[in-house]
Amino acid sequence: MLTLKHLIDMKQHANKISMVTAYDYPSAKQAESAQIDTLLVGDSLGMTVLGYESTVQVTTSDMIHHAKAVRRGAPNTFMVVDVPFGAVGISEHSDLENAIDLYKQTNANAIKVEGAHLIDFIKNCNHIGLPVVSHLGLTPQSVGITGYKMQANTKETAQQLINDAYAVQQAGAIMLVLEAVPSDLAAQITKNLDIPVIGIGAGKDTDGQVLVYHDVLNYEVPHQAKFVKQYGDFSSGITALMQYHKEVKNEIFPDESHTYKKQIMDEVSE
Ligand code: KIV
Repeated sequence: MLTLKHLIDMKQHANKISMVTAYDYPSAKQAESAQIDTLLVGDSLGMTVLGYESTVQVTTSDMIHHAKAVRRGAPNTFMVVDVPFGAVGISEHSDLENAIDLYKQTNANAIKVEGAHLIDFIKNCNHIGLPVVSHLGLTPQSVGITGYKMQANTKETAQQLINDAYAVQQAGAIMLVLEAVPSDLAAQITKNLDIPVIGIGAGKDTDGQVLVYHDVLNYEVPHQAKFVKQYGDFSSGITALMQYHKEVKNEIFPDESHTYKKQIMDEVSE
């Protein structure tokens, strides 16, 4: 399994880091077989798998349940698990308790938190040896305030993001996810930080890229952001289900090739 040291080495040698989200055993198994460097059990789970409208409804037990399955599917891949909305940022004691619970129960390599307001939380985690990935730029847990749009696109907000990125590194974050920000800004932040920077909608000059599994495979996504590139197409799944339904109705399935043909009834006394 890659370690944090490997990931830092990859940054230093300009060896790009791949990350994809995974939410269950089969997607994790696929990602590990595809030799993806790192997995994110994202709270995008809420929309992609649980049918919620946003990430906000996702609970810590949802994350634990799914991250455990991901770990079973990808026991040898560096795995980051998202801290869901409201689980931290409340009180120092409960924040740490929730974070430790998530980290221990899922056997993750790190947890991820959104926003620069959690500097003290990151420091406290660092203090007790709990690795934290910070997520800045567009933070989906705050879309109620920001909306889904490019962030840090004015001089002031860009400067703020530079300061925040530096502050989370200083606080002990092991990695940074930068979402939906101008590419030249992401490039500058990546160059200035020692920790790996993973981009999503942040251009090509970050240390790595992350995409949502369901976006990559066109798996029932109603809307795709500009930064998504689709590499496969699961939308044909619906055609397959329709065909299955039709074949059952028309007694085409199962045919002989899907049937055990041993004549047992001759041997059964009625
Ligand atoms: O939850 C998620 O999928 C994420 C990615 C968008 C980075 O946080």
